[in-house]
Amino acid sequence: MAALRPTTLLALISSFSSQVIAGLNRSALAKQYFGNDAPWYQDRIPFFETSDTNITEVYYYRWNVFRAHQRDLGAQGYITTEFIDDVSWQFFPSAFLDDATQFHFNEARWCRDRRFRLDHANFIYSADFDVRHFSENMAAAVYDAYLVDGVQSDITALLDGMIKVYDAWQHDHFDTSKQLYFIEPLLDATEYTISSIDASCGVDGFTGGDGFRPSINAYQYGNAIAIANIAALAGRSDIQDDYRTRAELLKTNVQNHLWNSTYQHFIDRYYANTSCATYWDFIRGRELVGYLPWLHNLPDDVPEYAQAWAHLTNSNKFAGTFGLRTTEPTYEYYMAQYRYDAGTGLRECQWNGPTWPYQTSQVLSALANVFDQYPKTVAEGIITARDYMNILSQYASYHYNKNRGGYLNIEEDYDASNGAPIVGLDRSSHYFHSSFVDLVISGLVGIRPSAEDILDINPLGVNLDYFRLEGVIYHGNEIAVQWDVDGSRYGTQGLVIEVGNATVATSSSLKRLSVNITRQAPPQPLAPVAKSIQLQNLKLHAGPAYPVGSVSVPNSDSNKVQDAIDGRIWFFQEPTDTYTISHGWQTPAGDGSEVWYMIDFGSNTAVTSGLLAFFANATVGVPESYRIEVNSTSGWKAVANPVTPSVIENGITWTSWETVNTSQIRLVFTPPLGSPSRLVEWKVYSDFVDGTVFV
Ligand SMILES: *[C@@H]1O[C@H](CO)[C@@H](O)[C@H](O)[C@H]1NC(C)=O
Ligand SMILES: *[C@@H]1O[C@H](CO)[C@@H](O)[C@H](O)[C@H]1NC(C)=O
Ligand SMILES: *[C@@H]1O[C@H](CO)[C@@H](O)[C@H](O)[C@H]1NC(C)=O
Ligand SMILES: *[C@@H]1O[C@H](CO)[C@@H](O)[C@H](O)[C@H]1NC(C)=O
Ligand SMILES: *[C@@H]1O[C@H](CO)[C@@H](O)[C@H](O)[C@H]1NC(C)=O
Ligand SMILES: *[C@@H]1O[C@H](CO)[C@@H](O)[C@H](O)[C@H]1NC(C)=O
Ligand SMILES: *[C@@H]1O[C@H](CO)[C@@H](O)[C@H](O)[C@H]1NC(C)=O
Ligand SMILES: *[C@@H]1O[C@H](CO)[C@@H](O)[C@H](O)[C@H]1NC(C)=O
Ligand SMILES: *[C@@H]1O[C@H](CO)[C@@H](O)[C@H](O)[C@H]1NC(C)=O
Repeated sequence: MAALRPTTLLALISSFSSQVIAGLNRSALAKQYFGNDAPWYQDRIPFFETSDTNITEVYYYRWNVFRAHQRDLGAQGYITTEFIDDVSWQFFPSAFLDDATQFHFNEARWCRDRRFRLDHANFIYSADFDVRHFSENMAAAVYDAYLVDGVQSDITALLDGMIKVYDAWQHDHFDTSKQLYFIEPLLDATEYTISSIDASCGVDGFTGGDGFRPSINAYQYGNAIAIANIAALAGRSDIQDDYRTRAELLKTNVQNHLWNSTYQHFIDRYYANTSCATYWDFIRGRELVGYLPWLHNLPDDVPEYAQAWAHLTNSNKFAGTFGLRTTEPTYEYYMAQYRYDAGTGLRECQWNGPTWPYQTSQVLSALANVFDQYPKTVAEGIITARDYMNILSQYASYHYNKNRGGYLNIEEDYDASNGAPIVGLDRSSHYFHSSFVDLVISGLVGIRPSAEDILDINPLGVNLDYFRLEGVIYHGNEIAVQWDVDGSRYGTQGLVIEVGNATVATSSSLKRLSVNITRQAPPQPLAPVAKSIQLQNLKLHAGPAYPVGSVSVPNSDSNKVQDAIDGRIWFFQEPTDTYTISHGWQTPAGDGSEVWYMIDFGSNTAVTSGLLAFFANATVGVPESYRIEVNSTSGWKAVANPVTPSVIENGITWTSWETVNTSQIRLVFTPPLGSPSRLVEWKVYSDFVDGTVFV
């Protein structure tokens, strides 16, 4: 046998090391955190653990939130929703809202199944309506997701749509004399800020108070940089130059005009003129929104701006006992409650002090940028990685909902003095207007996605005894990052970076490491199209007549019947949250007889496979038996060669049969004796869908 060449030896060593790297028990973790729905997550998420067990638990909970908010629109694919169910101010029929989109991409970029981010971006930038309702930094967020994938064609195809949205803001929210964007705080999705309350002379503040705010100017800066970068990839240098110039102008004007040296903070100036507010005057106080320029790396790395970070950890300023305040306690109308929900009398959303997951995650992302891009600011010693971890840990702990028996349930806003949710309406549960997974992966673990063929790790988890993240797909490579302070957890002391299954870099201390990687094509997702989806909300918005669901039980709530084909699936269990666990159609308690759920497609449709999602708890049980039937001129008959396994509780049951054309299909089933069954979703496909794979 010929002597092994060194390269072959290396290959042997790396294949050997793939055997010895311990790794997490992914199937056991998936089962532990997702129960019977584990197969959805098993190949879709990176797995993670750390010695701060709240952060571990919340990490998995936030993937649960992510999954619950993936809404299948049918032919248009998936989008991510902000509210778990419909609200009156969303875009119909999709339920799209642009203000939360940044977080949806921040989280989605770490999902191994790229379908969700690709579909969502295509939806936004090929939409035939103006997707703007609130201010947004969607182009920047979509670009940041590209940095994880590295697939240029995904992003260059979106360029024209991004420019259209950008220019629409320039058209209606840009003051040409000041060369800055302005916006009403409500349209930043942050009602009752200092500018809107003070512009009303302290009387209200839901609307009004338009200002030159750090938010929209930072967002448009980030969007302009993203558009310029994408234009460069597309070889469109005119657009590249144009948007670089726009970004530079915004940077200059934000620094020259929104930095208030008295407050040592970026703050609003009024655009509104009222008896209590004058155009171009500064507002009277600091707000958390003043950190948003760092979200897009806008400020220069100079000692003056670095001073702003001192306010974050000061307990008289932003640092509340249980979370970051949005305004400081010295503000005259701090925590004054103005608005109550008309139906329930409960307190409504305000931004005059409460802790918001929304802005807490933005500030943490901005702070991770500081540790990444601002060496001089870091050298000032005003803010440390330990502060990042303290705030992240505090943020994790208020996911354990004090008003809902300690169950994991993230809501809109919190009281910084006691850590309890404030709003607590039906719509509030499992609210997806913040990030967490991204703060763990790009902050605590510190994967800093790059346009270059570099894997850059800047870990901030300085207080942790151990952590391990694995199964991240970065530029098409499988990545793992592991830290063990003394070797007692994983058998190897220190920081370890794995690419493929081989260790490529190590360090005995927690420090920045960079390695070159080879860009590879990430998996291309399959994208089956469900034929059963009906998006209309019967109470809020009319839609197409078909498909339409109907049931054998007379007088059933038609909105609940419709829930079972609305493209949303979740299995949240907490007993205090009857709103989210009641999604879907619930049968009467079983008495041994059959019931059915029928989908009328309105026209002949080929059908061959489907998924069933049934909820279960102590009082609701899954069907004991079921069959699938299609209608024909000779009446209802069972589908041929059915594959119909027993129904899985709180998980997905995949079914298939011989392809048949029909305009009506029904699921005939028998609820358990004495208990109702709840059909969360029934999806039907024209193609065979193998539920065990997503690529
Ligand atoms: C993973 O956990 C499962 C369930 O606890 C167990 O059966 C299996 O042996 C474990 N796998 C490894 C590689 O430890
Ligand atoms: C407020 O007054 C300034 C200066 O007079 C003017 O330029 C601006 O358009 C006014 N703004 C609004 C919202 O009326
Ligand atoms: C900062 O804003 C306040 C108004 O809140 C204003 O009185 C002060 O002059 C501003 N500082 C500077 C340097 O412009
Ligand atoms: C974990 O969260 C609980 C519930 O909010 C909190 O009481 C506890 O202090 C948190 N633990 C850590 C280590 O942050
Ligand atoms: C890493 O190892 C796992 C388990 O042995 C294997 O399934 C996977 O294909 C390997 N990945 C690479 C990139 O070699
Ligand atoms: C990484 O790539 C850069 C640019 O191609 C090269 O200069 C550098 O030497 C590489 N580093 C290593 C460790 O291979
Ligand atoms: C089970 O879920 C139903 C909603 O379908 C809810 O009304 C009931 O309270 C839940 N039961 C328990 C024991 O949690
Ligand atoms: C089943 O199909 C037949 C023939 O097309 C039709 O007359 C009948 O109304 C259908 N049944 C239902 C329940 O729609
Ligand atoms: C279903 O209908 C289509 C179009 O009418 C036809 O091409 C196809 O052969 C039919 N399939 C079956 C299984 O009947």
